[in-house]
Amino acid sequence: MRPLKGWPARRLVVVVVVALGLLWMVSLPWKETEIRSDALDWHVSHEQKQLHEYVQRVLESPCRPGSTRARMLDRLPASSRTTQPFLWKDTPLPDNLFQYSLPFGFRGVQGKVEDLLKQLPNSASAPETMMADKCLRCVIVGNGGVLRGLELGHHINQFDTIIRLNSGPLGEFSVDVGNRTSIRMSYPEGTPLHWIDTDPHTLFVAVAYKGGDISWISAMINKLSVPLWDWLFFWQKVPDGVPLEPHRFRLLNPLVITETALDLLHYPPPTGGLWGWEKKVPTIGVSALNLASLLCDEVSLAGFGYKLHQRGAPLHYYDQLTMAAMLKQSTHNVDRETKLLQNLVSEGAITDLTGP
Ligand SMILES: *[C@@H]1O[C@H](CO)[C@@H](O)[C@H](O)[C@H]1NC(C)=O
Repeated sequence: MRPLKGWPARRLVVVVVVALGLLWMVSLPWKETEIRSDALDWHVSHEQKQLHEYVQRVLESPCRPGSTRARMLDRLPASSRTTQPFLWKDTPLPDNLFQYSLPFGFRGVQGKVEDLLKQLPNSASAPETMMADKCLRCVIVGNGGVLRGLELGHHINQFDTIIRLNSGPLGEFSVDVGNRTSIRMSYPEGTPLHWIDTDPHTLFVAVAYKGGDISWISAMINKLSVPLWDWLFFWQKVPDGVPLEPHRFRLLNPLVITETALDLLHYPPPTGGLWGWEKKVPTIGVSALNLASLLCDEVSLAGFGYKLHQRGAPLHYYDQLTMAAMLKQSTHNVDRETKLLQNLVSEGAITDLTGP
């Protein structure tokens, strides 16, 4: 009977350890909701009414033709005056498109790109160029958590062109982000697995970061499956269909990203080295701003910027991640992008509806 003597004490230890473990597990989601409701309060306290009035003033102020691009050109080389936003079946590719490899150019993937271009529409069929006589006000809706609870949807819907990024959803979030989509701009891994835009005017602007992306874009236009070999290169599940007519696809001109990296953010030119280039790739948000300056007369941002010092603040308007998750990533140079956006706002080149 001796061995049993120690049992009550040992059992107590086990019970305490298990109980502590359970407590810890239970307290995790609690802690998270605490942080999240703080963030929510912080939004509500953000003067919502004042913000709505400000956005209304932006929408009602006289539209100045070409104003955002003119300010961008102050920072860009003379050659940027002829930069085309998209590539077409029937327009020749500029030589400097083959200077760098993806995402800054098409060096080494010329054959793949030529195949893709055959699937794309003619430049004449572009609805966006037929609007050239109207002064267009655009808003780029970023995916930032700052949008949550601001109820800006109604105001966002009043812009002429609404550009959304990656998988930023609508549906239940429409009160905050609106429900129209003129452009959804994305790379394969960022594209919604189940397409979310019901707006019949939506264009899909495909961004290629690597060779496999070109094959994926081709496959999406043709409603074909992605070549098996290319699946290996995606770092996250990619959609196997984008339910849009071929004439709704656009291929982003890589020079739009090159300008953003080299001239707007002043990153050093890509050297062709395999490693370390990621830090010099702009986020899709800042690249979208450069694209918007080519498509629109006045550009506004909403849901941009990272409040990195508020670790508990929501990262996206649609999920449970907090800023703490963003601090862990090392892909993009967030500080440099924030500085650029702030400078453009203070120069009057763009407006930032929700603050940097
Ligand atoms: C957006 O919502 C409004 C109001 O509910 C509706 O009338 C409109 O058709 C919707 N637009 C799109 C593109 O879903």
